[in-house]
Amino acid sequence: MSEVHPARMEMGSGESAARAFCSTANLGAGFDVFGLALDRYADTVSVRFIQSRKIRITAKGPFASALPTTTDLNSAGPPAAALLRRARSQKGLTISIDKNVPPGLGLGSSGATAAACAKAVDSLLELGTPSNELLQIASLGEEAVSGTAHADNVGASLLGGFVIVYDKPVKATSLQPPSGLRVVVITPKVQVGDHKTRRARKLVPRIIETKKAVLNVGRAAAITAGFAQHDIPLIGSGMIDEIAEPYRREVIPGYYDVRRLALDEGGKGVAISGAGPSLVCLVDKKTGDPHRVAEAMMRGFQLNGIRSTSFVARPAPGARIVKRR
Ligand code: HSE
Repeated sequence: MSEVHPARMEMGSGESAARAFCSTANLGAGFDVFGLALDRYADTVSVRFIQSRKIRITAKGPFASALPTTTDLNSAGPPAAALLRRARSQKGLTISIDKNVPPGLGLGSSGATAAACAKAVDSLLELGTPSNELLQIASLGEEAVSGTAHADNVGASLLGGFVIVYDKPVKATSLQPPSGLRVVVITPKVQVGDHKTRRARKLVPRIIETKKAVLNVGRAAAITAGFAQHDIPLIGSGMIDEIAEPYRREVIPGYYDVRRLALDEGGKGVAISGAGPSLVCLVDKKTGDPHRVAEAMMRGFQLNGIRSTSFVARPAPGARIVKRR
């Protein structure tokens, strides 16, 4: 990654704030590759310079108390530190997080914070970091939280729409989702405990058989073609996973009923949202009613004695600067 001349770093002054939406990752066959930004919740991160060379994190908002404020453990800390290093800055930062994305549901909560923070710090330091490099830097926040720098959620929160992250070092591209796409998100009321994503990732085998990889590559290609052609049934047809979901669904009671009832009600594809426990169902508004699909999915959990909550979201735009002074 290229470094920036130190003269640029002191140009930035004042305060920057950025807002980034939550997201669903994987969409079935796109484990660690696909992300879709959702317009339901967003985090806002404000950053200011301080004279000491430290990073201080504070949080407010409905989910502030769930956040660690230790720099290394909060997903905002590592991207901010990496950008300060990139700028060779002698200053420190205070980072204020308005935490609205609920953590632990599979909605890319840490990714939204990391994306908003990376965008805000990049603006404060006037770095103009190229998009792929900013994504790589933002994904350091995921590494702090889950043990790996997966970039699917953070990519969706940064770029918006349907995002494909690929390659090493990471690259990303995004597609505008079809206008009739609605995403039903259903969350079972189950205890997820600490380090949920880290544990859910441990369920995924390190090695997979070629025939499973072939199935996933084909389905992921169908999902991409579906987004490119604005063909929601084609997207849904690819939402079956061989890598993570076969292991993760076993710890989501009611998964099979919820999936079946969603598809019976006209949903086009169902997947575990990121590391779970939420599930998503893609609905074409022109041919189905997302609220009825949501009710059907809640019935699926009910059949298994599990209470749940749901909402219907639309695809969201990428992170944007909301304050600069
Ligand atoms: N792709 C990641 C996973 C997303 O499924 O573990 C986690 O939010």
